[in-house]
Amino acid sequence: MKRIAVLASGSGTNLQAIIDAVDDGTITGAQVTLVISDREDAFALERARNHNIPTMFFNRKNYAGREEFDGAIIAALQAQQIDLVILAGYMRLITPDFVAAFPQRILNIHPSLLPAFPGTQGVADALAYGVKVTGCTVHFVDEGMDTGPIILQEAIPVNDHDTRETLHQRIQVLEHKLYPQAIKLWLEGRLKIEGRRCLIDDN
Ligand code: GRF
Repeated sequence: MKRIAVLASGSGTNLQAIIDAVDDGTITGAQVTLVISDREDAFALERARNHNIPTMFFNRKNYAGREEFDGAIIAALQAQQIDLVILAGYMRLITPDFVAAFPQRILNIHPSLLPAFPGTQGVADALAYGVKVTGCTVHFVDEGMDTGPIILQEAIPVNDHDTRETLHQRIQVLEHKLYPQAIKLWLEGRLKIEGRRCLIDDN
């Protein structure tokens, strides 16, 4: 049984989708065994508690710098023998040490078709730019901001009447489907990274 940790700063709807995918058998051979947040009031922690999943809150203010902060998180993940780290609305850039501690074992989801509109305002930036198509991306995490090899992407049209909220809402529907799919592929050992490309073994 593989052990998944989810890091989230916000409402945790992607966390919920992953928990549900484990419960309904979409994801097999793994469980979410730890949820970590950098925000004490993140609703993601409440969702975890509702499912009896252990939670941890790390307060950035208690650490001298990013290295110390991520060092504490790495130690917790290692102590819990975590196999796969899932960033789901985690609003911090992780350190190179964190990436190195879990090689090809950290995934992220982003609400745009990367490499377009990386960063914290992916939905608003796409809307402001005026693109007619956007979507979401699940990717491996490397040292950059939303730059790692892409695992899955899906597109949706931008409507004339879309606001940031309506567009984000439709993107999230895709996210909740795509993230469990990507996790399943990872667990099945079907993802192979070749340079920038992530190839999917279709056995
Ligand atoms: C998602 O849209 C994700 O793409 C972005 O942050 C949002 C998190 O939403 N990185 P939630 O906390 O999972 O509801």
